[in-house]
Amino acid sequence: MEISKLLKTFSETYGSGGNAAVYFAPGRVNLIGEHTDYNGGLVLPCALSLGTYLVCRKTGDREFRFATTNFSSRHTVAADAVAPQPGNAWINYPLGVIAQFAKKGLAVPGMDFLFSGNIPNGSGLSSSASIEVLTAFAVNDMFGFGTEKVELALMSQRAEKEFAGVNCGIMDQFASAMGAENSAIALNCSTLEYELVPLELGRHVLIISNTKKQRGLASSKYNERRGECEAAVRNLSAIKPISHLCELDLDTFLARQDAIPDPVVRRRAKHAVSENQRVKEAVRVLKSGDIASFGKLMDASHESLRYDYEVTGPELDAMVEESRKIKGVLGSRMTGAGFGGCTVSLVHRDSAAGFAEQVGKAYSARTGLKPEFYTAEIGGGARKVPLT
Ligand code: GLA
Repeated sequence: MEISKLLKTFSETYGSGGNAAVYFAPGRVNLIGEHTDYNGGLVLPCALSLGTYLVCRKTGDREFRFATTNFSSRHTVAADAVAPQPGNAWINYPLGVIAQFAKKGLAVPGMDFLFSGNIPNGSGLSSSASIEVLTAFAVNDMFGFGTEKVELALMSQRAEKEFAGVNCGIMDQFASAMGAENSAIALNCSTLEYELVPLELGRHVLIISNTKKQRGLASSKYNERRGECEAAVRNLSAIKPISHLCELDLDTFLARQDAIPDPVVRRRAKHAVSENQRVKEAVRVLKSGDIASFGKLMDASHESLRYDYEVTGPELDAMVEESRKIKGVLGSRMTGAGFGGCTVSLVHRDSAAGFAEQVGKAYSARTGLKPEFYTAEIGGGARKVPLT
């Protein structure tokens, strides 16, 4: 991203003058631990070098002006009228964060914002979380509010729920705020304790494959899955009260699963519990350098998301199946919420060059869609960009 260009666009949009600053917050790829965050479980995401940039400044008036290089739309919202905007407007992400500061008694006066993202939209790599965390980080820094990064992530999560209507977990916002170069974040979502796990993949790289299947009904289906997990918690609590599914290990869950009368809800719960166990195992094998076992866990995660949680769909399944056919692929799975978006595959360096072409061809033949491929670069979390 060319910062000088972005600064130029900023002054063309809003006029020059004032002290503009530049910030960045990354998207994320989750290596394993899908749909476990809101079940009080473990996740293992990494922050990407892809993300969103923001140029912003204080204006001294009582208006927020929003522009982005990604769409042509521009918006002005009075500081006294911050409320969710209709029609899935992207400004709900920054506005939702500003509302969270206000709830803490930290009033944000007028600002000009210019966003610019390089995460493919709707690809499940958390472009929305990056905008939220970016806004939270920038506003906090500019006004010297002194809010800790983890709290900024929690505020961003609440913004997503209250202004975008997605009752998401904490994984995406946490990864965007707390990411570290070449490390995965092993995060316990019920305590927010975390550990950075160095990503030593030997002769392997992570390739992200974008199915280009837009995640149409993602938010309603997502909220539906959460509801099913809550139903499972209620059923299981008849035996012994629990507050989250991931409090149970797999053996305990299997012994108690008959308390869940609905077979669909039972399968949803089984996914959450078994996935949590896989993350534990994944952290262990990753630390011991056993990349092959890590790949097997990725495969098992996808199967569980496909058959028990039912959030994959034909495009993600086709991408994973075609990826696994390539020599040197140790594992492949969907990443993020599902219903479209991206997969992540662990690929031997020698096969990486041909991977996109071979998988792309086979995937297009099966789905009629033109996929995109990126080699994942694991970068740091939200930060101010120095102006040289
Ligand atoms: C989305 C949500 C996350 C998480 C994943 C699934 O990305 O924002 O909180 O639940 O789906 O693992």
